[in-house]
Amino acid sequence: MDLAFDAETVSVETGGDVARIAVNRPDSLNALNVETLGSLADAFSAAEDAGARAVVLTGAGEKAFVAGADIVHMSEMSTPEALAYAEMGHRLCRQIEEFPAPVVAAVNGYAFGGGCELALACDLRVASERALVGQTEVNLGIIPGWGGTQRLPRLVGDELARRMIFFSERVDASDAHEYGLIGEIVAHDELDERVREMAAQLAAKPQHALKAAKDALNATHESSLTSGLAYERRTFAGLFGTHDQREGMAAFTEDRDPEFE
Ligand code: COA
Repeated sequence: MDLAFDAETVSVETGGDVARIAVNRPDSLNALNVETLGSLADAFSAAEDAGARAVVLTGAGEKAFVAGADIVHMSEMSTPEALAYAEMGHRLCRQIEEFPAPVVAAVNGYAFGGGCELALACDLRVASERALVGQTEVNLGIIPGWGGTQRLPRLVGDELARRMIFFSERVDASDAHEYGLIGEIVAHDELDERVREMAAQLAAKPQHALKAAKDALNATHESSLTSGLAYERRTFAGLFGTHDQREGMAAFTEDRDPEFE
């Protein structure tokens, strides 16, 4: 994959068809200011243009995934500025959610506020045993503004989301796993390797089927069960006749490995 990306606070590496995007402001625990938000959006666009078949999102340094939206920057914001900042965070989280291939969050440390929301927008979350996550905004006199009130309850259920948000809970990896917020916990030193392996596995899957599955799963967030099931039926049927459907099923019946597009 050919991907050139250069920004001060976001780095991108590639390996095979996988892009690894890292927020790179370790001195501020990767807190997201406007510049970094913009660079992250650009990095995801570059990964999409390059045809990445899986993306890993993580934070640089040993301590943090993303310690949140930049509190220093937010402290002086007016209401219109805060609205624009929320819209910018929403756009980025939507871009991740709608990225045409799976995005895996490698939660390597603190993921508070906007950092937790960024992880929630990813398809899958793998955490280091050192991770601490939470929607901690109420303790700052605000509420989650980058999707946390909407995406957290979908993942952990309404009761736990209310507890986490109302109490600004900082949840360790083990509790986050039990809540369903984190899919898997690994030793801190093994996180990078585990997530690379997972992303490589995803990148080798039939990409049209994965994208269709992602879109159909995302549709559960948008709609009633009735319209979600109708969407699933149409998308399921639409995959029949594609190369990957024919090949995947032929390989199964012929007891051989499939060769996907
Ligand atoms: N915004 C801006 N700067 C932040 C930040 C944030 N969300 N989180 C951490 N930083 C900065 C600190 O101000 C500090 O900067 P300094 O070295 O210039 O003083 C640096 O990152 C290191 O943080 P520090 O607090 O010294 O590290 P720590 O290991 O003692 O604590 C945290 C780490 C994450 C527990 C603590 O920084 C924290 O609670 N941050 C806020 C988390 C939060 O509420 N996020 C939600 C925002 S919506």
